[in-house]
Amino acid sequence: MLPGDKSISHRYALLAGFAEGVSRLSNFSTGADPHSSLACMSAMGAKVATVGKTIEVTGTGGRLRQPNGDLDCGNSGSTMRMLAGLVAAQQGSFRFVGDASLSLRPMERIRNPLQQMGARIELTNGHAPMMVHGGALTGIGFEAPIASAQVKTAVLFAGLQAQGITSLVERVRTRDHSEHALKAFGARLNRKDARLSIAGGQKLTAIDATVPGDMSSAAFFLCAALLFEDSNLVLDALGMNPTRAAMLDVISAMGGTIKVLDVQETHGEMAGTIQVNRGRALLGIDIAGERAAQLIDELPVIAAIAPYTQGGVRIRDAKELRVKESDRIALVVKNLRAMGAEVTELEDGMDIPGGQRLHGAVIDSGLDHRIAMAFSVAALRAEGDTAIRGAEAAGISFPEFFTWLDDLAIR
Ligand code: S3P
Repeated sequence: MLPGDKSISHRYALLAGFAEGVSRLSNFSTGADPHSSLACMSAMGAKVATVGKTIEVTGTGGRLRQPNGDLDCGNSGSTMRMLAGLVAAQQGSFRFVGDASLSLRPMERIRNPLQQMGARIELTNGHAPMMVHGGALTGIGFEAPIASAQVKTAVLFAGLQAQGITSLVERVRTRDHSEHALKAFGARLNRKDARLSIAGGQKLTAIDATVPGDMSSAAFFLCAALLFEDSNLVLDALGMNPTRAAMLDVISAMGGTIKVLDVQETHGEMAGTIQVNRGRALLGIDIAGERAAQLIDELPVIAAIAPYTQGGVRIRDAKELRVKESDRIALVVKNLRAMGAEVTELEDGMDIPGGQRLHGAVIDSGLDHRIAMAFSVAALRAEGDTAIRGAEAAGISFPEFFTWLDDLAIR
C-alpha cells in the first residue's frame, strides 16, 4: 500500500491538533514533512501518539498554546504556510523557522491575506524566519493572485476562526483537500463556481480517517512503468481526488493504459486500485495553463522521462517550479544535461526533444526529494550507472522509495 498522501496528511495533522477530541489517522504519510506538522501541533498543546500503525492526535479544542520555542517546519512549505493561517487567529506570537531551502521560499503570499484579516506578520526579506502575531481576525474577500492550495488553505484556516464570512476566489482550481478535510472535521463551507466561503467562529470535532495513497509518489512508478514495454503496475488505495488525478490523464496521453479497478470515497476523498500497462510507444506531451498548476509536483518526473519519448515534452506556465524545495526548472535542466540530453530552459518551463539516449551521470538532487526520485527513474533507462547525490532527500515525502523501486525492478 502506497504511503499516505502528503497533502492530506498535513491537513489531518493540523486540523486534528486543532479539533476537540481524539482523531485516529491510519496510513498517515511516513514522510518527514507531515511529521513536521505533527511536531508543530504537539509544540502547541496537541498530544500525538503512535498506536500500532495509527497516529492518535488529541486536539486542543481550538486553543493553541504559545510554544516554548520556535515552530520548526523543517523542509515543509505546507506546514509553514497552512499553519500560519491556523495560528493567525490565536492569541500570542509564533516564530516559524525552517531549513536552508524553506528559508528561501516566498512567504509574502500568505502575509498579504492574513494581514488584511488583522494578523501582524514579520518576515525576513520575504522569507522565514517568520513571526506571526495572532489575534482577533475579521473575514475578508480575497482573490488569489497565484494558483496555490497552500495560500488558499491558510486563508480558510484563518477564516474558520475570524469574525464574519471569509470568501476566496481561485481562478485556477487547486487541490481541494482542505475543503474536504474541513468538512470532515465538521466545518461548513460553500463553493459557488470559483468562490469559496467560510463562516468564522466554527468548532471542529475529531475524526477517524485513513489517508489515501499519494498520487505524487505514485507518479514516479507510473512514469517508470512507461519506460518498459512489458510493465504491469497495480497500485491500491491510491488517492484519486480529481484535483490531483491529472497525472492519470498524462499517463494515458503518453501511451499508457490505465484500468481503474475500484474506487471508494471517504471524507470526500476518492481512493481506489489502478492497473497500468505501457502501450506500444512512449509518446510526448505538451503541458501548459491550468494543467501545469495541477501537475506541479509531477512535472520533474515527467521531464525526467521526456528524452525517451517519441515526440518530446514541452512545459509552459510552470514558473512556480522555481520556488519549490529547489529551483526545479534549473535542476531538471542541469541534471538532464549531465545525462547527455538536449534541453532548452525557459523562464516558466522547458522544451525537451524526444528520441534521445541518456547516459548515467552524477545527479545533484539539490536536497530536493522530487528531484532525487525523478532522476532515479530517468536512470532506469540510461546507459551506465547513475549516482544521486543527496538521495536521502526522498525521505521528505517517501522514505520507502528506493526499497520500492528495487522491489519493482526485480519482479
Ligand atoms: C501543496 C500544494 C502545492 C504543492 C505542494 C503541496 C498542498 O504547493 O506543490 O507540494 O499540500 O497544498 P502550492 O499550493 O504552493 O502550489
